[in-house]
Amino acid sequence: MKSSPTIIALDARQILDSRGRPTVEADIRLADGSFGRACAPSGASTGRHEVWELRDRQPNRYDGLGVLSAVANIKGEIAAALIGRDVQDQEGIDSALVALDGTSSLKRLGANALLAVSMAAARAAATHRCVPLYHYIAELAGTAMSMPMPMTNILSGGAHAGRGMDLQDFLTIPVGAESYSEALEMISRVRSAAASVMQSENLSTLLADEGGLSPGYSKAEQALTLMMRSFEAAGLRPGIDIGIALDVAASELYEDGRYVLKGEKQRFSGEEMISFLAGLARNFPIISIEDALDQDDWDHWRHFTSELPNVQIVGDDLFVTNVDRIRLGIDRNVANAALIKLNQNGTLSGTLSAISMARSASYATVVSARSGETEDTFIADLAVGTGAGQIKIGSVRNSERLAKYNQLLRIEEDARLPFAGVKGIRASNLALAR
Ligand code: PGA
Ligand code: ZN
Repeated sequence: MKSSPTIIALDARQILDSRGRPTVEADIRLADGSFGRACAPSGASTGRHEVWELRDRQPNRYDGLGVLSAVANIKGEIAAALIGRDVQDQEGIDSALVALDGTSSLKRLGANALLAVSMAAARAAATHRCVPLYHYIAELAGTAMSMPMPMTNILSGGAHAGRGMDLQDFLTIPVGAESYSEALEMISRVRSAAASVMQSENLSTLLADEGGLSPGYSKAEQALTLMMRSFEAAGLRPGIDIGIALDVAASELYEDGRYVLKGEKQRFSGEEMISFLAGLARNFPIISIEDALDQDDWDHWRHFTSELPNVQIVGDDLFVTNVDRIRLGIDRNVANAALIKLNQNGTLSGTLSAISMARSASYATVVSARSGETEDTFIADLAVGTGAGQIKIGSVRNSERLAKYNQLLRIEEDARLPFAGVKGIRASNLALAR
């Protein structure tokens, strides 16, 4: 019994995330004394097809956002179902969790409850085996490990910055970096340079939800021009050392069949939205565009994908880390990359299946944080363990983001793994740039 990987206890509590909102933390203890703890993240520009985040809806406590019911579900029903199981059977545990919930959106027990438990189980199993988490995840996924290329938020708009700019994220990818630590240093230079350029123009440098800057420009072109000036101030060559990625988060802009861009003073049709973004991609070194269109606007997604064959086209709200939706995308020739968020799916095993579905059609995978995060560094290990190729954590500010960037530095030092570099990015305009 002493060395057994049997689950003997589950515990959970309500903690606060980086926006000061409640979220779920779960603990799992094994018979051999091993322990695993994990926290669920939480989004703001949440996709309609994501699994369900269970909130208490008691207006007098945390504005109704409490998660005490999810916590109670872990301590009650979930604990009763998992105690006595072998923690190393991640798939068995995850399917038991999904079956116990019994709904397709994981609404009854709450995907936030299930996910925290699923992640905590992987941590406890890794501890039991005396291997790092990324190693254990690689075993589960059956994939070769690598250090991911970061895609990092510099400027923020949308739901993360009081809707200051129409587009949600203006990010950078340090395509010239030869190692993860070099990539981090380049990103950090750009982020600091952006703040200096903004200061010189008397723009506020207060932080948005993911640690990005929010100049509150009305037009995307102004934000992209600021990105270019920041590259120059950082001494980096656009298109060679460094490129731009966008997360449009277009589902947030979609109203009655139109894309409403207040700053641009436009109410675009799908076709006009495609031309607008294609125009930006022609004029700036943009190598990746995420959620260019609404989550259910499949026809325009298909057209957009064929219109920009050289650019990485990422589905976030479109795919919601869901095997069936990714398969639909593949069948319909939509996008060429999938954003991977554990809490869109609800379990670690489900997330690994989504990654493997994307891979089966050579779609790139970008493991991603949420705008509401905690000190939990799980996604750093997930990106390495699955050899995802890319990771999107937010800006290089705020400890909930830096916890992940720093965990990747530790893994780089420990494991001496190959750096994915630009190989994991599905953008053929990169080859021209380099
Ligand atoms: P969210 O944003 O966590 O608020 O959904 C992140 C993203 O859209 O990629
Ligand atoms: Zn997104």
